[in-house]
Amino acid sequence: MPKPLRVGLIGAGSIAQAHMQGWQENAHAQVVAICDISRPAREGTAERWGVSPGALFEDYRKMLKQVELDAVDICTPNSYHRAPTIAAFRAGCHVLVEKPVATSASDCRRMITAGKKARRLLMVAQVMRFGSEGQTLRRWVDAGLVGDIYWGHCTLLRPRGVPAWGKFIDAEASAGGPCYDLGVHILDMALWLMDFPEPVTVSAGTYLKLANRRTLMKHNPRKYTVPEDMAAGLIRFKNGATLSVQTSWALNVTEETARRNIVLCGTKGGLQYSPPTLVNEQEGMLVNYTPQIGAPVGENGFVDEIDAFVEAIRQGQPSPVPGEQALITQRILDGIYASGAAGREVEV
Ligand SMILES: NC(=O)c1ccc[n+]([C@@H]2O[C@H](COP(=O)([O-])OP(=O)(O)OC[C@H]3O[C@@H](n4cnc5c(N)ncnc54)[C@H](O)[C@@H]3O)[C@@H](O)[C@H]2O)c1
Repeated sequence: MPKPLRVGLIGAGSIAQAHMQGWQENAHAQVVAICDISRPAREGTAERWGVSPGALFEDYRKMLKQVELDAVDICTPNSYHRAPTIAAFRAGCHVLVEKPVATSASDCRRMITAGKKARRLLMVAQVMRFGSEGQTLRRWVDAGLVGDIYWGHCTLLRPRGVPAWGKFIDAEASAGGPCYDLGVHILDMALWLMDFPEPVTVSAGTYLKLANRRTLMKHNPRKYTVPEDMAAGLIRFKNGATLSVQTSWALNVTEETARRNIVLCGTKGGLQYSPPTLVNEQEGMLVNYTPQIGAPVGENGFVDEIDAFVEAIRQGQPSPVPGEQALITQRILDGIYASGAAGREVEV
């Protein structure tokens, strides 16, 4: 049996704990080194998951130099994805990086180029794809039951849900608010089901109306420096399709309206994310079709995500969530911010 892949973790904060569970459960890989600029974060994570205290680093460049690694898992805040990804590729590692892939399309392009040059995989941790809802919808698309998708909308709103932990509201570390935290998940899901059509323009509104003042939330509004607490946009694609997206951390809506949902309408059938539903004509009727048991997946999306990354490396397969797909999502996110700031439609 080949030796387990040797993995280095960069960024040992909250989401890294979910990733560590995945690494722990994978028989073909092992986290052998951890890097975090915070000593309690790296030491606490190492202790919790049984990583040697002798393999902890403050600087990822030192880790990449001193430890022989096959892959790195990057769980740093958004603004610190690009630099360690490129350094890891230069050190000959495959890279799993948290979403959003970067904070600009140009950074994402540089990450893709570095991966290609190193002939290593870049996988973006879009965990929603590994859930049963997404897998169920994808099966209907693959079976040709949806046809050409020409219109859709995706929604993930929080009425009052600004994160009061971590660096989410800090512009320097995170660069964006709900667009990067939540919007990226539903956009990736919708685009994946649409087979990533080429985006042409975005017309969006971005708003900061509630999170920068005292409301029913625990974060410090004076530390709120990301540009938006709500965003809504319309994307036009080269194939004529349109998709609207709306996301928020703070908005005066009911929980019912805020509920995560994705609706995609095609020439043969329509999809709804939650519960996974296919709408199509059968026997002269329009039928809503919801499986009693959806597509089988593991109990934990993060575990399945890491399994997919490891399997792709071991089998020499393409990245399960390639940088090129994340680039399309990132171009749209760039477009949402640019359009919101300019107050008009922009090309992406
Ligand atoms: N997939 C999901 O559902 C999901 C959920 C939450 C967060 N995320 C993403 O994961 C990333 C991290 O989020 P989090 O909530 O874990 O943040 P966090 O603040 O809890 O953890 C980030 C860690 O990175 C460390 N760090 C910062 N700069 C570093 C550097 N240059 N080198 C090494 N370590 C560094 C910090 O000290 C911290 O321990 C973000 O990009 C976020 O968007 C994804």
